[in-house]
Amino acid sequence: MKKLFVSLFLALSFLRSSADEGMWLPLLLGEQVYNDMVKRGLKLSKEQLYSMNKASIKDAIIIFGGFCTGEIVSNEGLIFTNHHCGYDAIASASTVLNNYLKDGFYAKSKSEEIPSAGLYAEFLLKIEDVTAEVEAQAGTLTGTDRINKVNEAIAAINKKYSDESKHIIARVSSLFKGNQFLVFVYQRYSDIRLAGAPSESVGKFGGDTDNWEWPRHTGDFSIFRVYMSKDGQPANYSPENVPLKPKYFLPVSIKGFKDGDYAMIYGYPGSTNRYETSYGVKQKVDTDNPTLVKLRDMRLKFMFEEMKKDPAVKLQLASSYASIANYWKFYDGESKQLVRYKIFDQKKATENSFQQWANGKPEFESLFKDWEKAYAQWQPYSKHRVYINEGIMGSPLLAYAASLQSLENAMVKSGNSSDINKALAGASEARAGFLKNFNKISDQNIIGQVLQMYYNDVDKNQHPIGFFENIKATTGDLREDGTFKKFAAALVSGTMILDEAKWKAFTEHPDAVTLQKDPAFATASAFLKNWTGKYVTQFQQFSSKNAELGRLYLKGIMQKDPVKAKKMYPDATFTMRVSFGNVKSYQPRDAVKYDYVTTMSGILEKYVPGDYEFDLPQNVLEVARKKDFGQYMDPIKKDLVVGFITTNDITGGNSGSPVLDANGNLIGLCFDGNYEAIGHKIAFDKDLNRTICLDVRYLLWCIDKVGGASNLIKELKLVK
Ligand code: ARG
Repeated sequence: MKKLFVSLFLALSFLRSSADEGMWLPLLLGEQVYNDMVKRGLKLSKEQLYSMNKASIKDAIIIFGGFCTGEIVSNEGLIFTNHHCGYDAIASASTVLNNYLKDGFYAKSKSEEIPSAGLYAEFLLKIEDVTAEVEAQAGTLTGTDRINKVNEAIAAINKKYSDESKHIIARVSSLFKGNQFLVFVYQRYSDIRLAGAPSESVGKFGGDTDNWEWPRHTGDFSIFRVYMSKDGQPANYSPENVPLKPKYFLPVSIKGFKDGDYAMIYGYPGSTNRYETSYGVKQKVDTDNPTLVKLRDMRLKFMFEEMKKDPAVKLQLASSYASIANYWKFYDGESKQLVRYKIFDQKKATENSFQQWANGKPEFESLFKDWEKAYAQWQPYSKHRVYINEGIMGSPLLAYAASLQSLENAMVKSGNSSDINKALAGASEARAGFLKNFNKISDQNIIGQVLQMYYNDVDKNQHPIGFFENIKATTGDLREDGTFKKFAAALVSGTMILDEAKWKAFTEHPDAVTLQKDPAFATASAFLKNWTGKYVTQFQQFSSKNAELGRLYLKGIMQKDPVKAKKMYPDATFTMRVSFGNVKSYQPRDAVKYDYVTTMSGILEKYVPGDYEFDLPQNVLEVARKKDFGQYMDPIKKDLVVGFITTNDITGGNSGSPVLDANGNLIGLCFDGNYEAIGHKIAFDKDLNRTICLDVRYLLWCIDKVGGASNLIKELKLVK
């Protein structure tokens, strides 16, 4: 009986599916957290996780391009990251004839690797606590004064720790909402080359339908290599450069794993706001998210219409489309989950209990009253702000036109010819970049629709004075769609930005009036100037108040519960974190259980020939149908495992992060979060949160059996 009881208990605790909140700073991994990791199965010492003196796992983890994570997997600087992280580089390397995005690409030798301008890898050299230094500067200042002083102190520290000649870049990160400051020192390598990518129908399999969802079958990987100069230093691209010799690289395990096994993720989570207030939640759900989603919906529709028609346009717009779509679905889902799980009420309850503690403590007593007031003052303008960022600036043409304000300033305010020439050269260079990926029809449609939506949706008292009256006078009735379409058509055909001859004439004889009369510039600047002139100060005041109150709130929380404070992790700030948990199945809703892995059989089930999202390339189909999985086959599932889920805590920026087993071997790449817990930036769901990962064995199978690039496989240290 007792034995039965014990084994029942073990079975139950094994089935326990709760997620593992926490994005820990490897530098400050307290004994408690480390012990928890060991209890969960970790077999490594603290020194092996993070060390200042010896090579450790942290040395294999890179910031990829400034927006993703990557990991070094060979002694010759080979990088694994996600397909959606390499997407822009892959699309840029592609032409309609050599379409690597569509057909995939595997370099059979280093000489075939493709330089990817603009990409870089940053290695973390060290982390130091500089809180005392910053606090000494800030003293007892509050509000904007404090923010300015803190920023000054941070700039000085960054400068002190950076060394341009060695490509060393330091960035202070403000943690716990400004209660702690750490400086992160990186070394940047800028010669990055594309070494491999699957066909997009593998790398983005399931498209936006499957994005943010489990069960998932996406082969979301791409492969790059980092190069250094012959004398071992970071360097810009040169054919003379040689592959980087890393301090450490990750061994790759093809042994497989089971439900419940330990999983650890290193990487660069971008941002979370787990201490968001009830006011913030309300504003997001009521105003900010729905406005963003509505505007993105519209932009995506017009872009997609043109992408469908022409493969060249598809290549031009694909990367920007993917990133707009990604957070369109995210914010839509976030609102829904915040409502469904009553996060507003939960936050209110936490705030009420904080208030009880704060009563009688002058520093904290009026915190929430002040917060309520700050939100009430800002609320009337918040929709307008989304319209500027996601609407007006959501048109590539208007966004480029808006950037010409610095040229206008040089002409009107400075008038100095060297300033003007510099601004003009910058504008022409930016214009060339802008035109490369510009599609006229979709943008004209976007401009017409954005102006109409703004007119109907933004408080009339906040409109730029005279702008819509002018459309009415020159173009037609503002209640009619046709008026806005006509206005947009005239804008696009009349702007010198899209007319080589006119642009040339302007750059030869630049004058402010010509610029100011340009319809694209005039439109962009009417909205921008109205916004910056009248409302930006409100936003800045709100932001600094919000930051100040946030800092106090966190300070209060840590005072209120000092024991818990010892085991608190800071919100994500795009700094290196480690999270731990387990591979784990879950129950998304009543009567439904999601398995911990997906397989090749599932890919074939989802396959729809010719579909935009669920098509597959012929070579993948052939090898898959033959079940030629070789050493990559999973011993439990007797199939090729494609994806898996873990209980780890990650967010955007972690894309491409390595998933490691208890011994620190690479078992996968994390690439997404699940829909049921998509409110994770604001509220981590202890039951439902899962990280969606690509099994490294599927990645290797693609390189080896589909791509035939055994040269890449040979570089790896496989653990069998
Ligand atoms: N949701 C993924 C992330 O944020 C990106 C996936 C990109 N795929 C796509 N269909 N847009 O990391």
